[in-house]
Amino acid sequence: MAAPIVDADYLKEIDKARRDLRALISGKNCAPIMLRLAWHDAGTYDSSTKTGGPDGSIRNEVEYKHAANNGLKIAIDFCEEIKARHPKITYADLYQLAGVVAVEVTGGPTIDFVPGRKDSSSSPEEGRLPDAKQGPPHLRDVFYRMGLSDKDIVALSGGHTLGRAHPERSGFEGPWTKEPLKFDNSYFVELLKEDSKDLLKLPTDKALVEDPQFRRYVELYARDEEAFFRDYAVSHKKLSELGFTPP
Ligand code: HEM
Repeated sequence: MAAPIVDADYLKEIDKARRDLRALISGKNCAPIMLRLAWHDAGTYDSSTKTGGPDGSIRNEVEYKHAANNGLKIAIDFCEEIKARHPKITYADLYQLAGVVAVEVTGGPTIDFVPGRKDSSSSPEEGRLPDAKQGPPHLRDVFYRMGLSDKDIVALSGGHTLGRAHPERSGFEGPWTKEPLKFDNSYFVELLKEDSKDLLKLPTDKALVEDPQFRRYVELYARDEEAFFRDYAVSHKKLSELGFTPP
């Protein structure tokens, strides 16, 4: 599909959609699943074939039915309400805007958003998103394939400051932090503590404290929330622009 023409009119619609998203996300307390939607649309990117990425393809039934995307139809349907009011905006832009707004309304850093992403009607094969049961080499395989770094892996994993796992969706259960609707550095603080029965640590979360290269960033972000917010905003922007050259 063609890239949208990002003129003054398009920018105005983006601005209005941003407001509508703020209201929708705070009204429904759905920041976590909206952030997860943005991440799962973008996180399929393969830098060697230049396929996947933030292209709205997660709206295709074949893709939202991938096991990794269990539950995300809820967020796709929420976004449909915004799309109906701002039909000009591509799904690709809309999902990434939703991710940026989700972080912002829960108290996280402001992430620069540049519109102009094309939609794709074809979806990547299943299996490009990370498997929560694995360790550091798998995390590196998946994120390096996207063109991202160790620092990006740790900073972006901080997205688990929001939300929770649902047994019927992933087989895991519970939140990572005591306040799952607040975007802060508590994910890293909890990660450095002993396991507790109330909070979740996935094998891929534990991988971040076990691997020395990852652990330096976990320690930094646990003691310095500003450093986390700064790095998170940079890594999130990269994720939201994989394979995208702004117009
Ligand atoms: C939830 C895995 C990275 C944001 C989840 C869940 C799993 C998971 C298993 C639970 C899903 C459910 O049962 O509802 C992973 C793995 C990652 C990863 C293996 C590899 C590093 C990320 C990144 C972000 C993110 C990079 C965003 C920047 C979220 C959010 C939720 C979530 C916000 C909560 C969703 C909700 O409450 O409905 N993730 N994730 N994750 N993930 Fe990740």
